[in-house]
Amino acid sequence: MELPSLQKELIKRLSPGQFFSGQKLAHELGVSRTSVWNHLKSLEQLGFKLHAVKGKGTRLEKPMELLDKSELALHSYQSRQGALSQLTLLDICTSTNDYLSQKNKQTRLVNGTVCLAEMQTAGKGRLGRSWVSPYGQNIYMSFFWRFKNGLSTLAGLSLACGVAVCSALQELGVKGHGLKWPNDILWQGKKLGGILVEIQGESQSEYSAIIGIGINYDMGEKASEGIDQPWVDLANVKEGRVGRNKLAAMVIDKVLRVLKDYESTGLLPHVSDWNSFDCYHGEKVKILSGKTAIQGVAKGISSTGELLLLRPNGQLEGISSGEVSLRLDKP
Ligand code: BTN
Repeated sequence: MELPSLQKELIKRLSPGQFFSGQKLAHELGVSRTSVWNHLKSLEQLGFKLHAVKGKGTRLEKPMELLDKSELALHSYQSRQGALSQLTLLDICTSTNDYLSQKNKQTRLVNGTVCLAEMQTAGKGRLGRSWVSPYGQNIYMSFFWRFKNGLSTLAGLSLACGVAVCSALQELGVKGHGLKWPNDILWQGKKLGGILVEIQGESQSEYSAIIGIGINYDMGEKASEGIDQPWVDLANVKEGRVGRNKLAAMVIDKVLRVLKDYESTGLLPHVSDWNSFDCYHGEKVKILSGKTAIQGVAKGISSTGELLLLRPNGQLEGISSGEVSLRLDKP
């Protein structure tokens, strides 16, 4: 969904975070002050936090770096290498995963189709959870890739992409982040990002994968009210600001690099990196599946992406991701 052009213009002007008087905005946009006021109200309804000061005007509570194709291209090596075949920037969509899935139903998408949105109205997380997705405050992106090697090899795809996201963060100077099996991105035990891979059979031998990635970038308290677990955003973990476009471009690069080779290599080349990013290695954990819980000590992942769990009886058991979730087993 595209925002009305006037609202987009308002966002563009307000995004650097400086004060604007209603009169100046009305003059620059060639509309009445009432119209500006009405549109500012609509922005508030979309979750924008506006700060008005008598005599100074209105500004955003904090500056917002909007997604920008040329900024993304500036920081993206793979887009110059041709692995990025199509890049779509959306204002608002239900979910970037759903957007690509619907597009693929209309016209067969090509590998390396990527879409990003400023906001999702029905962002999805794993296990049917929702993903809080306010405008301009985080990264919401999805990738499309088609595979011919059978379904079983795709079990490790989301883990390989988790490594890609962590490597991008590392290259940007972030420290202290890691992975929680299967593919949560954590920083000091709090959720910094997540990955949702959705796979569909297209023919007997072909599967399409949509890899959705969400990274908390600079989320206001208000927007985050719906999050029911400890979370953190990049603005609070990294000294010195990383550009939102730069972050998105680096993640796009790293993920495309994984996707390009995954058909031939599978998860194997990423296993040791995954294990080095593993936040729970050696920790007592429990695996929850519906009403049942299995306990053990987390020992990293297998070459096919199963969690290796050392059970109290001394046996090493492989747990596949499916519908299970992992928790620290603390009294
Ligand atoms: C999780 O940790 O539960 C996975 C979260 C995945 C969120 C991203 S945001 C972009 C893409 N679109 C969605 O609706 N979900 C994924």
